[in-house]
Amino acid sequence: MGLHCTLPFFFLSCFLVNFSSSEVSPCAPKIYEGAFKNLVCVCNSTYCDEIEPLGTVQNGVVVVYRSTLDGDRLKRMSSKLRNRSKLRDFEANVTITVDARNQMQPIIGFGGAFTDAAGENLVALNDAARKKLLEAYFGRNGLEYNMGRVPIASCDFSVREYSYDDVSEDFGLKNFSLAQEDMDYKIPFIISAINLTQGNLQLFASPWSAPGWMKTTGKMRGGGPLRNDSRVYKTYADYFVKFFEAYRSKGIQYWGLTIQNEPSTGADMDWRWQTMNFTAETMRDFLRGYLGPALKANEATRDLKVMVLDDGRGLLPGWADTMFADPETAKYADGVAVHWYGNLYSPAILLSKTNEKHPDKFLFATEACAGYAGHHGPIMGDWFRAESYADDIITDLNNWVRGWTDWNLCLDETGGPNWVFNVVDAPIIVNRTAQEFYKQPMFYALGHFSKFFTRGSKRITVKVEGSLAVSGTAVVLDGGQRALVLLNKASSNTSASIVDAATNDVIQLELPARSIHTVVWNKKK
Ligand SMILES: *[C@@H]1O[C@H](CO)[C@@H](O)[C@H](O)[C@H]1NC(C)=O
Ligand SMILES: *[C@@H]1O[C@H](CO)[C@@H](O)[C@H](O)[C@H]1NC(C)=O
Ligand SMILES: *[C@@H]1O[C@H](CO)[C@@H](O)[C@H](O)[C@H]1NC(C)=O
Ligand SMILES: *[C@@H]1O[C@H](CO)[C@@H](O)[C@H](O)[C@H]1NC(C)=O
Ligand SMILES: *[C@@H]1O[C@H](CO)[C@@H](O)[C@H](O)[C@H]1NC(C)=O
Ligand SMILES: *[C@@H]1O[C@H](CO)[C@@H](O)[C@H](O)[C@H]1NC(C)=O
Ligand SMILES: *[C@@H]1O[C@H](CO)[C@@H](O)[C@H](O)[C@H]1NC(C)=O
Ligand SMILES: *[C@@H]1O[C@H](CO)[C@@H](O)[C@H](O)[C@H]1NC(C)=O
Ligand SMILES: *[C@@H]1O[C@H](CO)[C@@H](O)[C@H](O)[C@H]1NC(C)=O
Repeated sequence: MGLHCTLPFFFLSCFLVNFSSSEVSPCAPKIYEGAFKNLVCVCNSTYCDEIEPLGTVQNGVVVVYRSTLDGDRLKRMSSKLRNRSKLRDFEANVTITVDARNQMQPIIGFGGAFTDAAGENLVALNDAARKKLLEAYFGRNGLEYNMGRVPIASCDFSVREYSYDDVSEDFGLKNFSLAQEDMDYKIPFIISAINLTQGNLQLFASPWSAPGWMKTTGKMRGGGPLRNDSRVYKTYADYFVKFFEAYRSKGIQYWGLTIQNEPSTGADMDWRWQTMNFTAETMRDFLRGYLGPALKANEATRDLKVMVLDDGRGLLPGWADTMFADPETAKYADGVAVHWYGNLYSPAILLSKTNEKHPDKFLFATEACAGYAGHHGPIMGDWFRAESYADDIITDLNNWVRGWTDWNLCLDETGGPNWVFNVVDAPIIVNRTAQEFYKQPMFYALGHFSKFFTRGSKRITVKVEGSLAVSGTAVVLDGGQRALVLLNKASSNTSASIVDAATNDVIQLELPARSIHTVVWNKKK
């Protein structure tokens, strides 16, 4: 335990007490060359840093977890709730007002994707290191992920193009079977994750393309729609059902699905990997006429949550309007899935507008990754990619999204494997030769939310005044506990005064330059 006071904010920082428990392991840092401090935490078969549990938050106590460009990684500290009336003269750089009386959308959860690429990297690690990696995401002292996305058959993060039935004109799906990849790269790790989360993992599946023979083009790669033939539509709907039944026979029950990954890319006939064309109209007709009825007719699929779109928010609210205007279609849909690509060109207000027009359908973020444009692939230890994750999650939640799903759980040092070399970054990078893995800053950025914004907690209002470099979002848990995430993109320390509008309690905090905080406290009795 140690007090640290820094001028000119001594008044604030004296109240932050380091809390380091001997029970959890700290980050084993590795620093890469770069203009900024590019730091990862190294894990291997015998060692991995853990996150100190929150535990019970006593009344009057504030628990703070902090990550910084400078090298803190979900470091636990504590402070005290203060009485607002005693702080009249205090001037902070930013005032953050949290109002737990305004409760909004419930949180569904946070997670990542069990791609073939992630599975190949997991297989490449020895048993002990692989166990540590899965614990880092799904374990009690890890990020406590509770969502997982699974591609239906192959995608670009596979090493080959395959579907579950590549026998042409097999309308009875007699030749349907899961692939070797499901057995080797997906199922074992999904089962471990279910176990580590004690059954709290909610899985959803997404196809990149129907089997090639069901498309007008005869191949999975490249755009193009399903053949306009009722036998094809019916068979493709049955193909979904067979997928969920096959996973169920392996002990894996899903929570939901998206109808098509990034349907807009299917308009490009030369798209470099598996995709398929749906417009809002064709997706509506397929859901209403075929997929919806097939899912409802089968016990294994009846309760699945069906998400439409699964593409950039720039297509909203139009896509949702078209699909949900038809009550028969709307009956079969539960939510709208969004990806972050293209967010720069489409304002987040489109999400709020969609929520306003379709309040009975939830919004959920189903894919995001860094390193897909500009510098392709991983940048080891890059803090700015962590900021972009935190920034997007805050923006999404503040616009009615109920949770956020990262892309590949882990990738290799090149950002693959990917059969068309569409390499990207991931929060965990596996080094096969060294039999170790690296937790990128993005990993901790996700943890600031996933560990504290528990399923069923409700988003509450956060107002930030005094700086455009600071943003935040918060939830209230059953029982009144609040959790607030603050992102500080300023390049200098920023003093913050957090006001709990419902109780008039105040928290004083110094936000270091380029930092992310999760602040947790209870409503005073
Ligand atoms: C694993 O990492 C720890 C901590 O950095 C180190 O002490 C140990 O030697 C490493 N073990 C192996 C097998 O590399
Ligand atoms: C806060 O200050 C007000 C005014 O001084 C006082 O009435 C109130 O009891 C104080 N509350 C607590 C919890 O100390
Ligand atoms: C498809 O299934 C049929 C009948 O079960 C079988 O005879 C045939 O060999 C299978 N074809 C392939 C390519 O697996
Ligand atoms: C998790 O695995 C352990 C050990 O393999 C086993 O004892 C336990 O029953 C499993 N728990 C669940 C929820 O599957
Ligand atoms: C499919 O064919 C029918 C009947 O020929 C036609 O009315 C419909 O517009 C076609 N749909 C698509 C998506 O091409
Ligand atoms: C794909 O979808 C677009 C609209 O997004 C549509 O105009 C086009 O005709 C479709 N292309 C093919 C090949 O079906
Ligand atoms: C992976 O390990 C090898 C061998 O120890 C090392 O040379 C290489 O730099 C490591 N890669 C990364 C990204 O740290
Ligand atoms: C915070 O306020 C102090 C005192 O007014 C000022 O010197 C400093 O520049 C401010 N910092 C930021 C990041 O705005
Ligand atoms: C900024 O905050 C950090 C962490 O609290 C502290 O170590 C550092 O001295 C502060 N820098 C300045 C200029 O106050």
